[in-house]
Amino acid sequence: MVWYLSPLSFLGKLCWVQEAGYRGSCQDEQNLKADERSRHGTVTPSFSALTRVNLILSNRLGSENPSIVAEMESGLKPMDAEELRENAHKMVDFIADYYKSIESYPVLSQVQPGYLRELLPDSAPNHPESLQDILSDVQQKILPGVTHWQSPDYFAYFPSNSSTAGFLGEMLSAGINIVGFSWITSPAATELEVIVLDWLAKMLKLPEHFLSHGKGGGVIQGTASEAVLVVLLAARDKVLRKLGKYFLGKLVVYNSDQAHSSLKKACQIAGIHMENYRVLKTDSSTSYALSADVISEAISKDCAAGLIPFFLCATVGTTSSTAVDPLSEVGRIAKSNDMWFHVDAAYAGSACICPEYRHYIDGVEEADSFNMNAHKWFLTNFDCSTLWVKDRSALIHSLSTNPEYLKNKASQANTVVDYKDWQIPLGRRFRSLKLWMVLRLYGLQNLQRYIRNHIKLAELFEELVAADSRFEVVVPRTFSLVCFRLLPRPDGQDNGYKLNYNLMDTVNSSGKIFISHTVLSGQFILRFAVGAPLTEERHIKAAWKALQDQASALLADPGNSEF
Ligand SMILES: Cc1ncc(COP(=O)(O)O)c(C=O)c1O
Repeated sequence: MVWYLSPLSFLGKLCWVQEAGYRGSCQDEQNLKADERSRHGTVTPSFSALTRVNLILSNRLGSENPSIVAEMESGLKPMDAEELRENAHKMVDFIADYYKSIESYPVLSQVQPGYLRELLPDSAPNHPESLQDILSDVQQKILPGVTHWQSPDYFAYFPSNSSTAGFLGEMLSAGINIVGFSWITSPAATELEVIVLDWLAKMLKLPEHFLSHGKGGGVIQGTASEAVLVVLLAARDKVLRKLGKYFLGKLVVYNSDQAHSSLKKACQIAGIHMENYRVLKTDSSTSYALSADVISEAISKDCAAGLIPFFLCATVGTTSSTAVDPLSEVGRIAKSNDMWFHVDAAYAGSACICPEYRHYIDGVEEADSFNMNAHKWFLTNFDCSTLWVKDRSALIHSLSTNPEYLKNKASQANTVVDYKDWQIPLGRRFRSLKLWMVLRLYGLQNLQRYIRNHIKLAELFEELVAADSRFEVVVPRTFSLVCFRLLPRPDGQDNGYKLNYNLMDTVNSSGKIFISHTVLSGQFILRFAVGAPLTEERHIKAAWKALQDQASALLADPGNSEF
C-alpha cells in the first residue's frame, strides 16, 4: 500500500486515520484510483494528498463507522473566525504574489476553447479538499485561462480597474455580506450609497438636481447596461402613463452609430420595437460625434410619421473612439421634444473629476440621467456603475413592487430609500463600501493625478505612432484611447483590413500586450486604451516596440504584398 502524503503532511489527519484503526489495503488503493479516474478523467499527479487520505478514510469509515462520518460532517465550520483569518491571509498572499508577477503572464490567455474540462474532475468532491491544493489548481489550471485585465500591458477594450482600496472594500462587503434591498435590511448600506453618490456627484460637478436632497439621486447599478435599461423603462412608463399603454409600438429611441450596444439590448428587453430604434449616422467630419442636425431631422421625420420620440442617448467617450456627443445641443433637442435624455459616460466620466476635462460633460444639466462606470477607470473593482437620475420617482414608478413579506415600518412611512425600487433585481450587494474606500483612501487629488497620468501616457503613445510614417493616428485622441492603424499600400486590396487584423492578432498572440479593434468609416482600426493601474511609461514604450517589430515583420512578409 502507498501512503499518499505530500510534504504538507497533514500530520493531524494522519494520526486521526491511524486512531480510527485504518491500516490501508490494496483494495482501498484500487478503489481510490478508480474513483479518481472517474472524477478526473485521468489520474493527475496534482490530485491532493488530503483528498486521497479523505477518500481512503471515507471508503473505510462510510461502511464501518457511520458515527465518525457524522462527526466529521458536523465538524464543518464555514464561518470559523480563526480559519478565516488563516485562510484569508493565505489568499491575500496569493493575490499579492499574483500582482507582483502579473507581467510574467501572457496578457491575453492563450488557451483553446474547452481546455478546462480536460483538467478538472467531472463532478464536485464529496469530501473537503485543502486550500493549498485549490490554490495550486488556480495557479496551474485557472490562471492560464485568465486574460490579465490588471496587467500593465493590457490596452484592450476599456480598463476595469482594481486597486487596494477597491479590493479592501470588496473584501469588507464579502465579509459583512448583507443583502441591502431595502433600508431596513441594512440601513448603513443604503445610507452610505446615498452619501457616496452625492460625494461623487459633487466631484463631477453634476447639477444639484442629481443630488439626494431634491427629487433626484444616485444609485449603484451593476453595469452601464443595467443603468440604461432602468432609465429606459422609467422613460417608457412615464410616457405610456400619459398616452396609454397601447402606444408602446410608436415609441422611438435615438442614439448614434457609435453608442454602446447596451441601449439596443435595453430596447429589446423593454419591448421597444426594433424598427423604432434609430441609429443615427456619424462620420469623421464631427470626429464621430452626433450632429444636432441629424437628430432633429430624424425626430421630425418620425413625428411626421405619427411616431413618438421619447428617449435620446448621448455618449461622452464612445466605445470605438471616445467621441463626445455635444450634450448641450442634444439635450436641448430632447427637452424641446419632451424626451428623456440619458448621458452614457461609462468610461470617460471618470476624467471629468479633473477641471480641465469637466467641460466634456457641459450640458449634463439638460440630462434626465447620467451614468459613469466607477469600475472602469476609477480604481473601483468591478462591479460599480454609478447612475444619477433627476427624478427618482420615475424610476420607482417603473420598478417598485411592494409584497407583503417585504413591508416594514420605515418603508411604509416613506421616509427612506429602498434601492430595490431603483434596479432590476431585488438583492443587492454593499457596493458603496468599495467606492467609499476608494474616495477616502485616495482622495480627489490622487484620483485626478491618476487620470492625468494615463492621459499623459496615451499622449506619449500617440506621439510615437505619429512619428512612424508607416502608421497613422485615425481620430484625434481625447482621453486615454489612441485609435491608429498601419497604413496599407495605396493599391492595397482591402483598405488595410487584413494587414491591421494580422498585426493585432500577432501581437495579441505573442502574449506581450493585448489591444483591441473597431471599425470606423469602413476601416479596421486598432484601439490602444491606456488605463490599467500598473501601467507605466516603460510599458507604453515596450508595447510600441512590440507593435513596430510585428509591423516590420508583416510588411517584410511577401505574403502580405497585396495588402
Ligand atoms: C460607452 C460605454 N457604454 C456602456 C458600456 C457597457 O458597460 P457595462 O459592461 O458596464 O454594461 C461600455 C463598455 O465598455 C461603454 O464603453
